[in-house]
Amino acid sequence: MTDLQTRFQDIFAPVIGYDTTIEIAEGKGSWVTDVDGKQYLDFACGIAVTNLGHRPDDVVAAAQAQLNKLWHAGGAFLYDSLVTAAEKIVDVAPDGIDKMFFMNSGAEAVEASVKLARKVTGRQGIITFRGGFHGRTMGSVTYTTSKAKYRQGYHPLLPSTFVVPFPHPYGWGMTQEEANAYALRELEFKFTYEVTPGEVAAFLVEPMQGEGGYYPASKEFLDALRAIADEHGILLIVDEVQTGFGRTGDWFTSQVYDVRPDVLVMGKAIANGLPLSGVAGSAEVMDAWPAGSHGTTFGGNPVSCAASAATVDALRSVVPTVPATSEYALGRWNTLKDEHSTIGDVRGLGLMLGIELVDREGNPSAEAFKAVESHAREAGMFILNCGPNGNIIRFIPPLNVARDDLDRGIDILADGLAKFEA
Ligand SMILES: Cc1ncc(COP(=O)(O)O)c(C=O)c1O
Repeated sequence: MTDLQTRFQDIFAPVIGYDTTIEIAEGKGSWVTDVDGKQYLDFACGIAVTNLGHRPDDVVAAAQAQLNKLWHAGGAFLYDSLVTAAEKIVDVAPDGIDKMFFMNSGAEAVEASVKLARKVTGRQGIITFRGGFHGRTMGSVTYTTSKAKYRQGYHPLLPSTFVVPFPHPYGWGMTQEEANAYALRELEFKFTYEVTPGEVAAFLVEPMQGEGGYYPASKEFLDALRAIADEHGILLIVDEVQTGFGRTGDWFTSQVYDVRPDVLVMGKAIANGLPLSGVAGSAEVMDAWPAGSHGTTFGGNPVSCAASAATVDALRSVVPTVPATSEYALGRWNTLKDEHSTIGDVRGLGLMLGIELVDREGNPSAEAFKAVESHAREAGMFILNCGPNGNIIRFIPPLNVARDDLDRGIDILADGLAKFEA
């Protein structure tokens, strides 16, 4: 073990799991370099955060300029970057999203969205979707059902939470239509047997499940939720913490699917890596949240906001390129699927693709993922997995990845697969 690895082990609680103990000295664009000078293609992107790659020049310049002026306010006074970032985000957000509230992390924003929904509707019930990931804090982990392990040992969780299936066509061996119909039937049963719709404040849903296995919701499913929400006065909270800021081919997946959220939760790529998150909503909903009924010390940090405004500006020329890059990457992955029996499914939107690895019987193969991951690391590349079985490659390169680097990343993973299959 290196000196840093030993010091790390001595000082940190084991609860915080790092994928590797490789010590990285710096990152730029799609690449990071370790302390020995070895370069790695970073397709983990800090879990879908560095959508513009590491340290994009304009974002660095904006953050540095802000750092030299003001770096904390704690709600005592206003500053330009706070308002500018909010204006820029609302400008690119789906129609009907008018107002913002900033915090620091995705989990915090999820919790705030639930508090907002309860306050505004005067109802208690929250309906979430099995396989969803919404964070690890006590409230947000209540809504997280992507792995039982995340909740194990923490019960009792928040009451009045109702979990219904989210369509998993591949996992269930169904078509998208069949999976949608099954999930919606279960939702109907929930209303028949467990909670009346009039007691439900909100649906909390990812438009494409992330940690749960990279399952896109489909437009039909989200349209159905929108219609049920409208019928019963339920708010539709769309958690775009992982899917936002260009990742799925438009600014937000709500726009990809043309579905109107009442409340939009965002984080991760919002400032390309500086801590910031937000809850946004229609003026009607946000104006009904009484002053002082929620708050934060660090939320809307001046430097994070300056970075966020610069991130949105920089993404303006990148987001329109995502569909073409996605088509290319999907084409390559679908070809590889024909060549490798270990690839059971290729799915996703934009540059948020899930490559599901299976064994000879078609069962999830975490072993295959581990083999590919370890080959990738050897060859100089970081990747992450997702799904309850740890067998799905999260293919999430930076949105502005160079074509050579994209090809190189796919080639490395394909070599890893071939090696495993041999
Ligand atoms: C969809 C979604 N919501 C919420 C969160 C929680 O965000 P954070 O880790 O910043 O608390 C995540 C994190 O992965 C996420 O993917």
